[in-house]
Amino acid sequence: MTGSYPNTRLRRTRSTGWSRALHRETMLTSADLIWPLFVTDGEGVEEPIATLPGVSRWSVDGIVERAKEAIALGIPVIALFPNTQADKRSDDGAEAHNPDNLMCRAIRAIKAECGDEIGVLTDVALDPYTAHGQDGLLNDAGYVVNDETVAMLVDQALNQAEAGADIIAPSDMMDGRIHAIRMALEMGGHTNVQIMSYAAKYASAFYGPFRDAVGSGGLLKGDKKSYQMDPANTLEALREVEFDLAEGADSVMVKPGLAYLDIATRVKDQFGVSVFAYQVSGEYAMIEAAVAAGAGDRDALVLETLLAFKRAGCSGILTYHAAHAARLLNG
Ligand code: PBG
Repeated sequence: MTGSYPNTRLRRTRSTGWSRALHRETMLTSADLIWPLFVTDGEGVEEPIATLPGVSRWSVDGIVERAKEAIALGIPVIALFPNTQADKRSDDGAEAHNPDNLMCRAIRAIKAECGDEIGVLTDVALDPYTAHGQDGLLNDAGYVVNDETVAMLVDQALNQAEAGADIIAPSDMMDGRIHAIRMALEMGGHTNVQIMSYAAKYASAFYGPFRDAVGSGGLLKGDKKSYQMDPANTLEALREVEFDLAEGADSVMVKPGLAYLDIATRVKDQFGVSVFAYQVSGEYAMIEAAVAAGAGDRDALVLETLLAFKRAGCSGILTYHAAHAARLLNG
C-alpha cells in the first residue's frame, strides 16, 4: 500500500532527475535571450554602472567583443542603448538623427564584424538624446506632444535602419508610431527590418538603474505617466497590442517583466503572436541585491525567473543576465 490515493499521486513523476526531465513542460535555452548592452564613447572603455552591479557601459570596440561573446553563447540578438554625452543632448534630441551618433557607430561596427551571425535590436525613443530625459518633445506646458514626437521617431528609426539595425524597437509609447515607422521603412527600402514594439510598457518604478546607465536619470523631472501605461490596467494593454499589430509590428513586448506576467499571458492567448518580456534594470538589481545580502542563490534565481517568462508564454526575454544565464544553460 503506497498511500490512500495511489491513482492521484502527482509526486510519482518528481521522484528522480530523469523523470523530472522527462515530464518537463517548458524549455529555456540561450536562443530565448536578448542581451541589452550600453554603449559609451571612447576606445577601450568599460564603465561599471553602480546601480546595476556586474553591468558596464562599453565603448564601441567592447560592444563588438560582447556581440562576438553573444554569438559564441548562442544568444541570437543584442539590444543597444547609448549613453549620450551631456553636450550632445538638446531639447529636441536632434543627436538621434546624426548618422554618426554612438548608436549608429556601434551598429555599423557590429555588422562589419559579425554580419548576420547576430541580430541587432535598437531602441527608438528620444530619452538618451534629450536634455530633459523625456522620451519625446515637450510643449511649453512640459507635456510630451504626440505627433511631433512621432515625426522625430521616424527619422531616428530610419537612421538606425540605414546603419544596419535588424529590429527596430520603439519604446516611446506614442500613439501611431508603429504605422509611421513601418511606412518609412518600406519607402526607404528596409522591407526586411523588423519592428518589435514595446506595446505594453508601464510607467514603472523598476526603470531607475537603466536611467542611470543611459545618463537620463539625473535629468528627468517629473514622470512618464502621460505616455507610459498605468500599472492598474490590463484591457488597455490589450488595445495597445491590437493597435501596434494592426499598424505593422512583427512582435510585441511587455515591460517590465515579472510583475506583468499576467499581461504577457493574456497577450499571447488573445493574439497568438511572438511576445517578448523585458526583465528590466530594477528587476536585475533586486536579484543582485538579494544575492549580495545572502538571501538567495544567483544561478537558481536567474534560471527560475527566466523560465517563468517561458512558462507564461513568452518567446524570449530581454535580460541583463543573458550572458550569465546562457553560460549556465550551455553547461
Ligand atoms: C526608454 C527606455 C527605458 C527602458 C528601456 N527604454 C526607461 C524608461 O522608459 O524610462 C527601461 C529598461 C530597463 O529599466 O532596464 N525609452
